[in-house]
Amino acid sequence: MENQRTHTCGELRSDHAGERVVLNGWVDTIRDHGGVMFVELRDRYGFTQVIADPGQLPEAGELKPEWVIAVVGTVQLRPEENRNAEKPTGHIDLHAESLEVLNRSKVPPFEVEPDSTTREELRLEYRFIDMRRRPVLRAMEMRSDVARIIRREFFDLGFMDVETPILMKTSPEGARDFIVPSRLHMGQVYGLPQSPQLFKQTLMVCGVDRYFQICKCFRDEDLRADRQPEFTQLDMEMSFVCQDDVFKVIEQVMVAIYKEVLGYEVSAPFPRVTYGDAMTRWGIDKPDTRFGLEIFDLSDVASSSEFKVFRGAVESGGTVRGLVLPGGAELTRKQIDEAEAVAKDYGARGLAWLKLTDEGPAGGISKFLGEAEFAAIAERGGAKAGDLVVFGAGTWTTALTALGQVRLHFGKTRDLIDKSRHDLLWVTDFPLFQWNAEENRWQAMHHMFTAPRQELPEPGEDLSGITADLYDLVIDGSEIGSGSIRIHRPEEQARVFEHLGISEAEAADKFGWFLRALDYGAPPHGGIALGLDRIVMLLADSASLRDVIAFPKLASGVCPLTQSPSRPDASQWEELGLDVAAPDES
Ligand code: AMO
Repeated sequence: MENQRTHTCGELRSDHAGERVVLNGWVDTIRDHGGVMFVELRDRYGFTQVIADPGQLPEAGELKPEWVIAVVGTVQLRPEENRNAEKPTGHIDLHAESLEVLNRSKVPPFEVEPDSTTREELRLEYRFIDMRRRPVLRAMEMRSDVARIIRREFFDLGFMDVETPILMKTSPEGARDFIVPSRLHMGQVYGLPQSPQLFKQTLMVCGVDRYFQICKCFRDEDLRADRQPEFTQLDMEMSFVCQDDVFKVIEQVMVAIYKEVLGYEVSAPFPRVTYGDAMTRWGIDKPDTRFGLEIFDLSDVASSSEFKVFRGAVESGGTVRGLVLPGGAELTRKQIDEAEAVAKDYGARGLAWLKLTDEGPAGGISKFLGEAEFAAIAERGGAKAGDLVVFGAGTWTTALTALGQVRLHFGKTRDLIDKSRHDLLWVTDFPLFQWNAEENRWQAMHHMFTAPRQELPEPGEDLSGITADLYDLVIDGSEIGSGSIRIHRPEEQARVFEHLGISEAEAADKFGWFLRALDYGAPPHGGIALGLDRIVMLLADSASLRDVIAFPKLASGVCPLTQSPSRPDASQWEELGLDVAAPDES
């Protein structure tokens, strides 16, 4: 190309002064200073100020933002008083000798500026403009850096990168599968993988020993800020290992990512907390430990309380827990009501509370409680004058979950979270099974390929006590990854299926190919998958996965850039042998 760049727009410094260079880039801003044009030229690497005289270079007078140009000129040191120390190229200007318009641009629907108030849907529809904004571009660069560090560390540790199929046998795991009709096998479909779980386990049977992959996963589920229908996992699996070996690898990789991307030192090994402790201390299995406010148990004193709600909760096999908000006595009734609404959203019937004043307990349920309760609140919760105490009474799960959410609500609304900190921790010892009351059956807490630690009882018996080497990586209160030590013996896998109510015929139909692999000398193995989008979202301090995905889908599942999903042509339907009624357009 003629006029091909010799430097990027972020490169020129004072020691380039006097050099003749060529820059290519987009016109960011144009200022006309009495016949001299100051053009800010932009590319991925930065900005350089170009000075052009439209008297000599008429093209300069015609420029508009987002046009693509090539400038040939001489680098000149700015007069001392005009130097900008905050901008890497702020010591120099490029004095244009010739200028070529490589391409024009329509007037963009919004300006390319760091802070945008443009609605997200429009930004995503015009992502090719939006990504020229520095924060978006930086998030993409961060994502690329994270992927580079992951690959480097995993290769250093002797892992093999293996690609697994995207078109596979449909086998709903937890969410719904996306399905792809087959032209060559009319009436049949492929499923898109929700994760490469069974392929990676099969790779262990293949003898791959240490596998990793940065892979796309697809789940047809309701979307939230931290969920996309198509997302990326860092997936890994290892043979002949225990939980500690998996942790060690992930810790090495996460320490490197935080150090190189944020300059933040994370110390390894990461703290570990069991699922039971996480629930009892923070009321959640993904605790944000960047602030205090731990939940305490009041069940023993509540069992003999005068207060019927407390006594009743314990008598019916439930629990009573408390949480102290230091300085919370100043909360207004409206603020307490807001906290109560949070508790109710998470299944509580209400949120009992009281305030501690210099004159003693006041308001809320204080008149129903006695000395034993007040002493326990002071001793276990450390409550003192000026504090608010809230209570959860009910089943273990409901009382703790509701208080856990109220804790998070206080953390956010009272600005208690130390944002300068990053807390990476393992939550371990999850139960293997959970009871699905609606469907009246046991289901796998994570997935049905996780190895039980204990001998399984007879089918039909209580499975709540069965635990597993089943673990989550939690960062700053977000679930970033899940993994486990897997079942490697076919008879054990069959037994888990039996407990989950999956018949032999159904198992053979859904996972027959994988069960066959287990029959041929599967080694003991385990692994984990981390959500790459979620990691980058945390590193970039973004509120949504959409900020760190190049071309994301909206919460409705629609891609605003390409307008997918869309109806295929009638001929495509026909070729696939599909007969789908068009939606009623009326
Ligand atoms: P799991 O289903 O827990 O485990 O997924 C692992 C991690 O993937 C991320 N994730 C998502 N990210 C964005 N959008 C989504 N819809 C979404 N769903 C999940 C989360 C989550 O922690 N095969 C197992 C892993 C294993 O056992 O090795 C699995 O997929 O960060």
